[in-house]
This record gives sequence, C-alpha cells and structure tokens, in this order.
Amino acid sequence: MANPNQPDIDNWPLTAKRIPDDVFAVMREKNLARWPTGAEVDIDEAAEYHLNLPKHKQLGWVMRQADAEGRCLTQPRGGFATLELQKELMICLDKEGQADIVPMTTDSYTRNEQWQNAANGVEESKKAGRSMLNGFAMVNYGPKAARELIEAIDKPAIVLSGTSMPRLTSEVGFAAGYSGYLGSGLAYTASYTKEVPIAQGIRNYQYLDRLAAMYAERGVDLHRRQPGFLTGTNIPPSIAILTCIIDALLAAEQGVRNYGLELGQTLHLVQDAAAIRMARELTQEYLKRQGFDDVFTPVTSLHWMGAWPQDEAQCEALVAYGGTLAAIGGAVSVTTKSSHEAFGIPTPQANAAGLRNTRMAIYLARHIRVDTMPEFQVECDMIAREVRPVMDKVLEMGDGDVALGTVRACEAGVMDIPWTPNNYLKSRIMPARDADGYLRIFDAGDMPIPSDVMEYHREKLRRRAERENLPFDHELAVSSVYELSEDLERLIPFPWAAE
Ligand code: 5AD
Repeated sequence: MANPNQPDIDNWPLTAKRIPDDVFAVMREKNLARWPTGAEVDIDEAAEYHLNLPKHKQLGWVMRQADAEGRCLTQPRGGFATLELQKELMICLDKEGQADIVPMTTDSYTRNEQWQNAANGVEESKKAGRSMLNGFAMVNYGPKAARELIEAIDKPAIVLSGTSMPRLTSEVGFAAGYSGYLGSGLAYTASYTKEVPIAQGIRNYQYLDRLAAMYAERGVDLHRRQPGFLTGTNIPPSIAILTCIIDALLAAEQGVRNYGLELGQTLHLVQDAAAIRMARELTQEYLKRQGFDDVFTPVTSLHWMGAWPQDEAQCEALVAYGGTLAAIGGAVSVTTKSSHEAFGIPTPQANAAGLRNTRMAIYLARHIRVDTMPEFQVECDMIAREVRPVMDKVLEMGDGDVALGTVRACEAGVMDIPWTPNNYLKSRIMPARDADGYLRIFDAGDMPIPSDVMEYHREKLRRRAERENLPFDHELAVSSVYELSEDLERLIPFPWAAE
C-alpha cells in the first residue's frame, strides 16, 4: 500500500529536472535498506572524511589541477574479490605503476545487484586463496571496510562499476571515501543491458548524480564521469560525443559540476585528437545552451576498447600508442590496459607495467600537437556537423527536457548506437574504418545526419572497398571490428605502398 504521506517514488514521472529533496530522501531510505551494509552509510560523516582527505587524494581537485597544468594523468582498471587482494592490487598500482588515479572495479554480481552471489564469490575466493570474481565485492564489504583501501594508497580513488544499476554501489563508494565514480545512464544502459529500458537507466544514474550533488552541497567536489566506450566496437566520435552530451546534461540537471567525458580511442591520431577537442567543446556548448556555465568537463581517453591481439608484444604497442594518442590529443587522463588484455584480468604487475608504458609514451609525445593540421580542422567540422542536428532533435523531441528527449529519440532511432544489445535502441547505425584509417559511418540508420555529410563518409568508405577489393556493403563494418585481433602477418604494414 502506498503511504499517502510519502511521495510515490515508484511512479515518479521521468524528467530531467532535479529530484526534489523529499522524494530523494524516500528513494535513499528504500535503497539503503536493500543490503545490510547500507545501514553503515552516513553522508555527513562521509562528507567530513572527504573534506579532510589531502587534496591530492581528492579526484575532483586532481582532475581540475591536471587540466590547469595541461597534464595527462594515467589510470588503470582493477578489481579482485577480497579486501586483502584488492588492497595489494591498489598499492601495487599506486607504487609500482605510479598510477595517478587508483581504481576499484566491482565484480559482475555486484554490478548486477546480486549481492548474495557476490558474497559466495568472496567466500570461494578466500578458500581458493585467489580471486574467483572479476572485481571487488564492495557492497558486501560495506563502506567501513572499503575505507581501508582509501587509507592504503596515496592517490585519489575511483569506483568503476560497469552497470546501469549503480544506486547502492555509489552510496557505499562515496561513503567509503572514493572521490570518483564512473558510469552514466545512456552509455551503460546501451552497453551492458538488453532488457533495461533507457528511462530506467537514466533514473538510476539520476539517483547517483543527485547523490554526488548532495556531497557538493556539503563542500565535497566529487568527480563524476561518463564512460565513453559504449559497445566495445568501433564507435565513431560523433556517436560517443552525443552520448557524452546527453549524459552530461542529465548530470548537470541533478547538480553535478565536475563531470568527466570518456572517449574510446579510434586509433587514428588526427581523429582522436579532433574527438577529444570536440567532446569538450560541444558538451560545453550544449551545457551553456541549457543554462549551465560552470560545469568542468575534462576528457579521458581510453586505450583501444575493441578486440586485442593475442600476443603480448602487439598488445604493448597498442598500450604505448594509446598513451601517445591521449597525450597528443590533449586528454586530461588516459585509462590504460595491459599486455594481458586478450587473455583476461591482468596480474597486478602486468597492470602496473601497462601504466608505466603509457606514462613513458605520454612523456615522449609531450611536445607534439596536431591541431594546426588542416585534416584536424576538417575532422572537427565533420564531427560538429554530425552532432548538432542529432542533439538539437533530441532536445526538440523532449520539448527541452533531455531525459524525455533521449528516451523518445532512442525509440525513434534519432539517437542510435552501433551493435548495442539493448532492446530499446534500434542499433541500425553502422560504422566502418575507411581507407585513411578514420572511423566513418556506413549507414546512419534513422539518425538525422545531413546527406552531404553522409556522402562524405560513404565516399571515404567506397575508396577503401575499391582499394581492398571488397564489396561496398556491411562487411566493411564487420571486418573493421576484428581488424586488430588478426594475425600480424595479415596486417599490411606500409599503407602508402598501396597508394
Ligand atoms: N581488473 C583489471 N581490469 C579489468 N577490466 C575489467 N575488469 C577488470 C579487473 N577486475 C578491464 C578490462 C576490460 C575493460 C572493460 O576493463 O581491460 O576490457
């Protein structure tokens, strides 16, 4: 029975507007009651803890500082089942890897709110003496225990929890002292779920963003971040950037002012630099248009999110090149992988080596810029010409409300994401790599991308089909996905020999 004195949170209408205080209070109470460790969450105590952390352990401040100084920070991913293993890992990444940001990746059960299964996994891991989960079961341990991890390192820590259900994990993570949290409504719902409606994913992240804003009201500048990598396939910059803008607007509406944007690397130096530039520029443009002129939106570049080679040496090239791309593109941080990527979860040492490799590559690239090249400007212009008509339509479809607009636009295919498992997106848009190595759009599906822009993309792809003697069809897209996991001898080493 609904309590007439309480807001009916189960039927709260979808809107981008800030969740009212009384509604949020009821939402929090119900949420925290879902697992015993929820009772340990005390936001006032936690806010005090955050405020007393040294500045260099507060990710919000660290990101702002790196941006002001023009530095590119390194951050790995990493999570093991038990507190002991997780602590060792975080110390190793901090010390041996010289990570600027130390991660805590949750396990899949935790991501999917199956905390009983996670508890079993922790027990199994203790018995086996090694991690039987693919991440740390943070909710099971709860904020008090998880705070030991913050105490064990001398860097800021971020929660990485690839899920569209972050409500309890975020409560526990922030209460523990994690000053960053990765995840967003559109990106993760599209990447990781089949049956979760976009509206539900948006609501779940509105909760998290509203929670981050509650810390901000207490003076704590937490870093929220959008995960740009989407479906682990070739995502053209404009699609990733549209997702950044939508998720950033949704967060800003809830009160978030420190919001990172992630972009998976395309592996084309000029295209990645243009994407990094335009992600920030276009997100700022739309934030300002919606009335937000004080949101900090640094960009994080992600090491290749597609399939990796099964050879450690080849992986190392990809790791180093990823540092180069991030540094030259002007990313404020880079999220790293390792030579173990094709085989599963890296050992702490391999993970740390990936960090050092990347850090060295960033150093070597520090003087190089590509933003005066004509190709860079052309790519920036193309990205803007793809993003604006779609984003304008999304807002128009919601009568200015980005939550409603997004749900309607996804349903109509106006906003689309390639190869998504999610039933609430059309997934008709089809990208492919062109003859010059840029990711292009082969088929825009129902996205309102101008026809002359599409003609540009298709012309570039036609050139590749001719050069490689392939039919001009969807196979161009599929072969682009597997490209880097092919045997080395099948990769043509000197493309200009073919000109
Ligand atoms: N430890 C280290 N890296 C991880 N990843 C996922 N889980 C873990 C973990 N527990 C990384 C992998 C994967 C990416 C999405 O996150 O590199 O490709």
